[in-house]
Amino acid sequence: MQDRRLKTLLSSEQIRAGVGRLAERIAADFRGQEPVVIGVLTGSIVLLADLIRQIDLPLQVGLVQARSYRGAATVPGRLEIHAELLPDVRGRDVLLVDDIFDTGRTLAALVRQIAALGPGSLRSAVLLRKRERQEVQLEPDYFVFEIPNVFVVGYGLDYRDSYRHLPYLAQLDEADLVGADLGPGG
Ligand code: IMP
Ligand code: MG
Repeated sequence: MQDRRLKTLLSSEQIRAGVGRLAERIAADFRGQEPVVIGVLTGSIVLLADLIRQIDLPLQVGLVQARSYRGAATVPGRLEIHAELLPDVRGRDVLLVDDIFDTGRTLAALVRQIAALGPGSLRSAVLLRKRERQEVQLEPDYFVFEIPNVFVVGYGLDYRDSYRHLPYLAQLDEADLVGADLGPGG
């Protein structure tokens, strides 16, 4: 299992710089507000922890869980949202944070669900966005890096729940993914 080939796509220094730029844009755009920053479990945990410490604003933090059951690395399946952990967002300025915008189905579903709870405003931010994979109308309000259409792990992103702890972003070799059943992701 540990002999899968990993190729660094973004170093921890590149990610740190990118997250710093994102935090500055968010702080500027939400100036005068006190946003609720909602991280999507599990993939956003590393980004969420780094980002909230760099946003120079009063804010609250909340969580929501989304799992997409994937039959293969590139085939999105059924999506499950668990909103039990969501804080009260009515009238609040909400920033939804996820690891990656791939097909966009996860973020689109979460935005629909949270919008129905009556927030004052609702924006979304992701670290990564894959080229040519988008299947929804929704555009993320913020994304830091656009990456090629490859399967990536690290900095929160997993392959069968492994590799989330890597401080950098790596590409998993295609050969290690062929026919892979990823199980419930998130
Ligand atoms: P989407 O709904 O297709 O945008 O996919 C969103 C979810 O799929 C992300 O939150 C991830 O959990 C997962 N995902 C998509 N691409 C990758 C990848 O390259 N590596 C790991 N997880 C991924
Ligand atoms: Mg995820």
